[in-house]
Amino acid sequence: MAVCARTPDRKGHTMQLSHRITNITGGGSDGWQVFYKARAMMAAGETVIELTIGEHDIRTAAPILQEMHRAALAGHTGYAAVPGTTALRDTVAARVQARTGVPTTRDNVIITPGGQAGLFATHTATCAPGDTALYIDPYYATYPGTIRGAGAVPQVIRTRADEAFQPRSADIAAHAPGARSLLVNSPNNPTGVVYSRATMEGIAQVCIDHDLWLISDEVYDTQVWEGAHISPRALPGMADRTLVIGSMSKSHAMTGSRVGWIVGPQEAIGHLINLATHTTYGVPGFIQDAACFALSQGDAFEQEIAAPFKRRRAMAQKMIAGQNTVGLIPAQGAMYLMLDIRATGMTGEAFAFDLLEHHKIAVMPGESFGTSAAGHIRVAMTIEDGAFEAALRTVCAHAETLAG
Ligand SMILES: Cc1ncc(COP(=O)(O)O)c(C=O)c1O
Repeated sequence: MAVCARTPDRKGHTMQLSHRITNITGGGSDGWQVFYKARAMMAAGETVIELTIGEHDIRTAAPILQEMHRAALAGHTGYAAVPGTTALRDTVAARVQARTGVPTTRDNVIITPGGQAGLFATHTATCAPGDTALYIDPYYATYPGTIRGAGAVPQVIRTRADEAFQPRSADIAAHAPGARSLLVNSPNNPTGVVYSRATMEGIAQVCIDHDLWLISDEVYDTQVWEGAHISPRALPGMADRTLVIGSMSKSHAMTGSRVGWIVGPQEAIGHLINLATHTTYGVPGFIQDAACFALSQGDAFEQEIAAPFKRRRAMAQKMIAGQNTVGLIPAQGAMYLMLDIRATGMTGEAFAFDLLEHHKIAVMPGESFGTSAAGHIRVAMTIEDGAFEAALRTVCAHAETLAG
């Protein structure tokens, strides 16, 4: 029996909240203790080097903000069209078609307030209450809570560090009977791994064999350092069962603008528009105009936004190649490094707390992202090059000391 939290009202009654909401984190720790401790230290005036969250060290480029300002002053401040503006939907459709070869029109696109809203909407759209939704461990921290929030039951599929966290299709297939959806993310947060063609083809086959919806989180698709990003929607038989999540957050350093999209079959998009009418009611018009302008800046602009991570990743590869204690999971994409610190004998969490205490460097324990990355730490490459190199050197030296 689900236990519901109660909160007292002014008359002393206790009002019941839904189990779906009170249990959204699944109980227990949310895995962000190191981050909270670092933030508390900073609030107390200490200098902490933060390598925790996935946010660029640059802000949204001035021309994008100028376009936002222009659009707002021009009056695009009323309710915008719920599915998104025609211009932005067309721009996203053209971009997706050009990059994947899959015929895509505005009817295949809904604009959302960021990728996170897309994750929630796609699970709500595909899973009835109580349905099983599969996702891969290690995972972006919100995944299980998003699935629970949508009323579905999260079922995790583990991967292995020595296989660079590429999921095995047999493992997915073992959990697939009775499930409704599978959520994948490549390039991956937290591992920095890009799924190979073989991995994606295996995933696609399981989805076809078991009649699963595939929810493909591609918010890091402009941050690929090695190999190629494969959108599974482009694989044979997948366009009708895949919902792709996209976002301006990472590709254009627009995290605070809250603008992204879902691309999928027209019928599903139609229902997602109905859902948006009853939830978000769309995305501000001036933000969408700015997103449209940003997307029109082309590949070179996106490469410029991604360049600092590419540089820092190359720096890290060189440094870690000479290390005995710290191992680097192949850093193929996204703005993170996943470091194997098992040779220290510590858990990722214990190591992260120790590092914070001794060197005031904050990283995320691998355990914050499930159980598969235990004994690892995730390092966000989100500070200036020199400071990043120095911090990483300290992380490696600290690991060496601990390994003794
Ligand atoms: C894998 C992944 N998906 C989705 C999101 C959500 O991004 P946003 O809502 O800013 O588009 C993030 C943010 O860090 C992420 O790492």
